[in-house]
Amino acid sequence: MTTEATSESPYYLAAGSEQKAIRIACERGLAVMLTGPTGCGKTRLVRSIAAELDRPLVTVSCHDDLTASDLLGRYLVVGGDVRWVDGPLTTAVREGSVCYLDEVAEARRDTLAVLHSLLDDRRELFLDRTGESVPAAPGFALLASYNPESRSLLKELKPSFRQRFVTLSVTYLPPEQEALVVQHESGVPEDVATALVRSAVALRRSEHAGIEPPSTRLLVAAASLVAAGLPLESAVRIGLVNPLSVEGAVALALDELLRAEGVLT
Ligand SMILES: Nc1ncnc2c1ncn2[C@@H]1O[C@H](COP(=O)(O)OP(=O)(O)OP(=O)(O)O)[C@@H](O)[C@H]1O
Ligand SMILES: [Mg+2]
Repeated sequence: MTTEATSESPYYLAAGSEQKAIRIACERGLAVMLTGPTGCGKTRLVRSIAAELDRPLVTVSCHDDLTASDLLGRYLVVGGDVRWVDGPLTTAVREGSVCYLDEVAEARRDTLAVLHSLLDDRRELFLDRTGESVPAAPGFALLASYNPESRSLLKELKPSFRQRFVTLSVTYLPPEQEALVVQHESGVPEDVATALVRSAVALRRSEHAGIEPPSTRLLVAAASLVAAGLPLESAVRIGLVNPLSVEGAVALALDELLRAEGVLT
């Protein structure tokens, strides 16, 4: 769990009017689900929304072992006394912060069930251990995200959970904008950013079964290596080809595509 005090807005290049739609939904008290592939900008978008709403951001990374108590809180022995200590979700609800449940589909269904009363018109969290109902303070907003491509069928979210959210699908920026992001984040010149993005677009379009789409994050990483002085060829190899190659046949196909785009020789 991480908590970020509201700070300056992070750099976020909008693909369209998604920030406005999300801000309005949050202000109306609606929970927002973002779906999209890894490294396409979901977390950055959530951070920009928290900054726009001028609220602290509490991020919870969801996983199999996350329990309801991890979210709600638990009794702990503090200096000889047994005291209730709020979990991150309860803190966010009480303080009117923005709560972001990252990779929400990884959490177990019984863990997510504690959110039900918070995410309908009741807008309150029920702490079964203490018997307290905690109403959402003004400013509280809940956002969640997951990657529909990578979750297993066993991790399908229940309709009763999914239908408590308005949902936006986030994807890679159009090439010109993605190149601006790569340039901004890494400091490479325009021609390098453009070549990397062009390569990524070719890989994302590839029909080769084993090729997974490269993320904007990966492009930024490869570009950062170039900005730090590594030749483009080496940067592309360790920053792009290797992370995407889980098997030899894929590496060969990647090489071929990247040679055609002129970033490998
Ligand atoms: N629209 C954007 N504006 C600015 N930076 C962006 C944008 N999209 C992607 N990036 C860059 O890509 C990186 C990865 O984005 P981010 O961490 O938000 O991805 P994510 O969708 O949350 O991925 P994951 O699902 O793996 O958590 C960011 O650190 C940032 O450098
Ligand atoms: Mg993320």
